[in-house]
Amino acid sequence: MKSIDKTKPVLVTGANGYLASWLVKTLLEDGLTVYAAVRNPAIKEKYAHLDKIAASSQGSIKYFAADLLTEGSYAEAMAGCELVYHTASPFTLSMKDAQKQLIDPTRNGTANVLNQANKTESVKRVVVTSSCAAIYTDAIDTVNAPNSKITEEIWNATSSLDYQPYSYSKTLAEKKAWEICNGQDRGDLVTINPSFVMGPALNPKTATSESISVLKQMGDGSMKMGVPKMGVGVVDVRDVASAHYQAEFNPKAQGRYITSGHSTDFLEMALTLQSKFGDKYPLPKKALPKWLVMLVGPLTNPRFSRKMLRNNINVSWDADNSKIQNELGIKFRPLKETMDESFDTLISSGIIKAK
Ligand SMILES: NC(=O)c1ccc[n+]([C@@H]2O[C@H](COP(=O)([O-])OP(=O)(O)OC[C@H]3O[C@@H](n4cnc5c(N)ncnc54)[C@H](OP(=O)(O)O)[C@@H]3O)[C@@H](O)[C@H]2O)c1
Repeated sequence: MKSIDKTKPVLVTGANGYLASWLVKTLLEDGLTVYAAVRNPAIKEKYAHLDKIAASSQGSIKYFAADLLTEGSYAEAMAGCELVYHTASPFTLSMKDAQKQLIDPTRNGTANVLNQANKTESVKRVVVTSSCAAIYTDAIDTVNAPNSKITEEIWNATSSLDYQPYSYSKTLAEKKAWEICNGQDRGDLVTINPSFVMGPALNPKTATSESISVLKQMGDGSMKMGVPKMGVGVVDVRDVASAHYQAEFNPKAQGRYITSGHSTDFLEMALTLQSKFGDKYPLPKKALPKWLVMLVGPLTNPRFSRKMLRNNINVSWDADNSKIQNELGIKFRPLKETMDESFDTLISSGIIKAK
């Protein structure tokens, strides 16, 4: 990539999100001007935390209204930017209409942002927040991968509109991004593919991320009888922000990057919280038996189909995270630090209360 002018503004789409807030903080603390694209700048409480960070850092922030579903919506926010971060996309696992609520904003929104980047002379590099979900659907896919580890070479081939549509939306969006990038030769694209993101939230009360919902369920008693032992990868939100920073500013950055610190499961995640919080909060202490989850799960939530449970419960999860460590120098925080500090923010913001 050509050299970067740090006096030029940097666009972040979905700047008020859980993950993007840490990225914006990193950019502001580096003295950069952030153009923050948010859906509705009139809802000030959704980005008040960013204003506070901007006030105490070298950088500055300016807000722009933009929606993934409106073509040309990002033109004003992108004008004059050399670097674009596209993080916006709905991260929800419970929806009524997957096409409208997930696929359209995620895939068409990515096309909208990438097409705009092609039209904007100043843009040199776009970093898209993809996901490990663009590589795999269920933990069993990681077991079935060569050497039982997912790598950047692999594409998700097992999700669909009807089965794990969030994974499908991220797969279609990332494929679209590469297709648009490969059709031009002016700028380049890097994707960050995080596993399940945990870690302290800068905006615990307003973020819509599923990461916060899952942690809340672990701490509010919803899982006190136990947790299904499903294999998953976990990464700290601050490490994901560093990965995004390196992806734009490190000239070596190229291609996709699996961004996952730990190969773990939901039981191990919950157990790491026991020593610090176990006596005050109704945290899960044991695995729910597979037969019980298979029996009851499908009745409680249509997402927990028998197929989904079979492909994840008591199935290990593994990823090769060497590329990002070797090329971008990312070091991952210990799982316990991530989990403890995530839980602390839910307590201090009053989202979960002691028993
Ligand atoms: N959290 C994870 O475990 C994880 C793992 C891998 C990848 N990711 C990816 O990381 C990104 C951020 O996720 P997150 O966990 O930080 O979730 P989040 O807090 O819910 O952030 C999602 C952002 O997308 C914006 N958005 C949603 N629909 C939009 C639309 N139609 N137009 C414009 N903006 C829209 C939201 O804006 P509003 O506030 O206005 O709704 C919000 O700023 C997503 O691309 C997600 O797929 C997340």
